[in-house]
Amino acid sequence: MKSPLILIVGGGGREHAIAWKLKQDSSAPRLVCAPGNAGTAELAENLPLAATDIDGLLAWAVEHKPYLTVVGPEAPLCAGLADRFRAAGLRVFGPDRAAAQLEGSKVFSKDVMVKAGVPTAKAESFSEPGAARAYARSLRPPLVVKADGLAAGKGVLICRSLPEAENAIDEAMVRGAFGASGAQVLVEEYLDGEEASILALTDGERLVMLASAQDHKRIFDRDEGPNTGGMGAYSPAPVVTPDLWPTIRSKVFEPTLLELRKRGIVYRGVLYAGLMLTRYGPQVLEFNCRFGDPETQAILPRWEGDILPALDACADGALRDECVRWVDGACVCVVMSAGGYPGPFKKGDPIYGLKDAARLPGVTVFHAGTRLEGGHVVTDGGRVLGVTATGEGLRQAVTRVYDAAARIRFAGAHYRKDIAWRALSA
Ligand code: AMP
Ligand code: GLY
Repeated sequence: MKSPLILIVGGGGREHAIAWKLKQDSSAPRLVCAPGNAGTAELAENLPLAATDIDGLLAWAVEHKPYLTVVGPEAPLCAGLADRFRAAGLRVFGPDRAAAQLEGSKVFSKDVMVKAGVPTAKAESFSEPGAARAYARSLRPPLVVKADGLAAGKGVLICRSLPEAENAIDEAMVRGAFGASGAQVLVEEYLDGEEASILALTDGERLVMLASAQDHKRIFDRDEGPNTGGMGAYSPAPVVTPDLWPTIRSKVFEPTLLELRKRGIVYRGVLYAGLMLTRYGPQVLEFNCRFGDPETQAILPRWEGDILPALDACADGALRDECVRWVDGACVCVVMSAGGYPGPFKKGDPIYGLKDAARLPGVTVFHAGTRLEGGHVVTDGGRVLGVTATGEGLRQAVTRVYDAAARIRFAGAHYRKDIAWRALSA
């Protein structure tokens, strides 16, 4: 098919990276991004519809009949966007609501993992704070308290002591810090090790794992300060050694998809496993029902050739290993954030140096929180840009990415200077 129309739902760095990759496909797709950002505006038509405006998106799609809709963020998937689109005869890359519960409900996700025999932290779920506190007292700290539902990355509390854990339980269940998402909590054991993100494309039955990546969740260098949505990522993550791949496939992805099928749930899209590589092997910290952000910015530049046939195959139940190939080398993404993020931050500051940075070899600047104001790109979110560079190896990619980041300026700009340090110091 020539020039298929594709709707990309979302407006962050991940969606800009998806649009950038799709734009290079041999089928020359026409792209529409809802709502998109100043970066996607260069590749796509931006629709002024929020990613969670399912009625609005569906009305647009019924009228314009996109060949495929690719959903970036979790919120619309957990709210049933894919169900509604499929019921209207539209093709979607992204799981139905029932499958998206792997991310939308940590209680559901843990239950699937336990029934499927997937290695994961020992945990119990509670809908009553007294019972949660009693269970916490039976464990040895540190331990982890997790709000059941979506909490914009804030619902996981690592507790060094029992009083901290009791306080976390009260925050979620008594004081309602996460709203309805905290009505149930998981109390689980703490896992020690290095983290890695492994994503797999799946049509519900077959699966193909993507190149490994590692995220950097804390705001400051050396993993200090509060958690964020992710301050940078690199791929591959050498901590995922070749011997681990068959284990991750057979112990994590295959049993999870099988357990879902037993429940009558067909997962179509990308399944993201957040892993802790412990000395007892990989254990699942969490599942996400979508591409990671910023992992996607570090993974897609390494994807060789067309991506649309792979996304298509997931939607249609026709996934094959040959759909996915990688170029050698490495890729690093450094997130530039607005001053104050992940706390309150300013918007509307002009950004300078974008073209200068993008001219450097191997460099692509993905936009996240940006918009156009009078023809100029200004800041419009906490995570503003994902400066990305490929290289023959990680060292070259890191050198290039920091050369590029140094050329970009906006008021209050912050970025970590140590992205990929674990791999470089290994
Ligand atoms: P999640 O949203 O479940 O990935 O949790 C966010 C972050 O909390 C993870 O990336 C880990 O750094 C940390 N985390 C979650 N669960 C555990 C656990 N059981 N043990 C240690 N760290 C954890
Ligand atoms: N980078 C973490 C996430 O996408 O959830």
